[in-house]
Amino acid sequence: MNLRELLSRVKSTSQLLTISREVDPHLEMAALIHQLSEHPVLFERVKGSTYPVVAGVCSSRELFALGLGIPRARLVFALAEALRNPNPPSMLASAPCQEVVEEKVDLHTLPILTHLPGDGGPYVTAGIAIVKDPELGRNMCFHRLMRLDERHFAVRLVEGRGTHTALRKAGGELEIAICLGNSPAVLLAAAMSPAPGVDELAIANALAATPLVKCRTVDLEVPAEAEIVLEGRITQRVVDEGPFLDLTETMDIVRRQPVIEIRCITHRHDAIYQALLPGGLEHKLLMGMPREPTMFAELSKVCDCVGVWLTPGGGSWLHAVVQIRKRAPDDGRRAIEAAFRGHASLKHVLVVDDDINVDNPAELEWAIATRLQADRDVILWADQGGSSLDPSALHLPGQKARTAKMGLDATIPWCRPDGTLRTEQERAAFRKVRYPSLPLDKYLQEKNSHA
Ligand SMILES: Cc1cc2nc3c(=O)[nH]c(=O)nc-3n(C[C@H](O)[C@H](O)[C@H](O)COP(=O)(O)O)c2cc1C
Repeated sequence: MNLRELLSRVKSTSQLLTISREVDPHLEMAALIHQLSEHPVLFERVKGSTYPVVAGVCSSRELFALGLGIPRARLVFALAEALRNPNPPSMLASAPCQEVVEEKVDLHTLPILTHLPGDGGPYVTAGIAIVKDPELGRNMCFHRLMRLDERHFAVRLVEGRGTHTALRKAGGELEIAICLGNSPAVLLAAAMSPAPGVDELAIANALAATPLVKCRTVDLEVPAEAEIVLEGRITQRVVDEGPFLDLTETMDIVRRQPVIEIRCITHRHDAIYQALLPGGLEHKLLMGMPREPTMFAELSKVCDCVGVWLTPGGGSWLHAVVQIRKRAPDDGRRAIEAAFRGHASLKHVLVVDDDINVDNPAELEWAIATRLQADRDVILWADQGGSSLDPSALHLPGQKARTAKMGLDATIPWCRPDGTLRTEQERAAFRKVRYPSLPLDKYLQEKNSHA
C-alpha cells in the first residue's frame, strides 16, 4: 500500500483531519502537528508551495498495521519474516513518481518545514536516501536534510552506517536519490540495519509489493510509487549541520557534514509532501520497531518470549519492555542479557511475566513494586558501549559513547529468600487479584429506567 492508498484508508475510517486554511511550513505547521499529538492530518493549502502536506499517517502501531494490511499483533513477526526472506523487487519502465520531471531545480518550491526557532534551517525529515555502495550494492536509509539554497542540502550521515561507509569507499562523492512520500513498507525497511549487502528495498518488497523504476539522471533505482524523488550527488564540500531536535527530544549538536547537490526533481502530477515530526511518535516508532524483531530473535534463543517493545519514554531506542512466559527461575536474567545482545544501543530493560498488561505503564510499575527486590533482581554493568543519542552518556570525539546499563527482572521470583524453589501455589499468590467483570450497561439501564 503506497502513501496515498494509506491516506484514503485512514480517511475511510474517519481518522484523517483535513486543514483547508493556509498554514505556514515555517514554525506554524510543526507546532500544529505536535498539538494534534501527531493525529493523521492533511494540510491542503501551504504557504509558498503548491504541494499539500501530510503528517502523522504512521504515528501508531495500529496505523502501521493498517498500512501493511496485517493485525497489530503480527507486526513484529511480519518484520522478522521480511528480514529473513528479502524479495528482490521488480522493475517498471515508467512510474507515477516520474509523471513530472523538473531539471530546473528550486528546492524552495517544496514545503520543507522549519520545526523550531532554534533549528539550523528548514529540514526534510521523511526523506529516504538510496545510494550504491561500490562493493555491497544498494543501500537505503533515512537521512535528515537541512536546506541550504535552491539546489543544496546539508545531510546528516551517522558515521559507520551504510551511506557513510559507501561514500568513504567511493572516494568522497556519490550519486544519491532521495524519496519523499513513501509507503509504510519502505519507511520501515529504510530504518532497518540488516547484514551488510542485504538490499533494504528487497526487505520492503517482502513486506509489501514495492516495484522500482530507474532514476532519470543517476544510476539508481527508486520505489515507483514514491510521491517525489530528488536526484543528485553527495559532494566533497562540508558545512555546519544543525542544531536540530533529535529522538530524545533534546537538541542535537552542530557538526561538519557533507553537502548534497540536487540536479533533478521528479514527482507525481498531484504529489503530496510527507512531514515527520522530529522527536515525535512517528520518529520513535520508526527507530524502535525495526529493532524489535532482532531483539525477539535473540530473546527466543534463551526463553519463551511473548513480545518486546521499545517504549516511547525511552525514545523507543534506549528502553525496552520484554514479556516472557517464565519456565525456569533464571529466565528473567537470561532475557535481560539477550535483550542487550539484540540491540546494542539499549540502556535499560524491564522483564515482566505474561500476566502484565504491557500497554499500561502503571501495571509495569506495579510489577516492579510487587515482584522485584533491587539487590537480587537488578543487574548493572558499568562503562559499556552506548548510544550516541543519549545526552547523559560519556561522548568522546571519534569513539563510541560510554554508558552504564541496567536490567530489571520484575518477573515473579521463583525462589524464596533462602534460595529454595517456591511451589506453584506460592508463585500464584504474586498474581494480581482481579474483580469479576459484570455487564455494566444492564445495571445502568435499569437505574435509568427507574428514574
Ligand atoms: C526518522 C528517522 C530519521 C533518521 N535520520 C537519520 C539521519 O539523519 N542520519 C543517519 O545516518 N541515520 C538516520 N536514521 C537512522 C537510519 O535510518 C537507520 O539507522 C538505518 O537502519 C541505517 O541503516 P544502514 O546502516 O543500512 O545505512 C534515521 C532513522 C529514522 C527512523
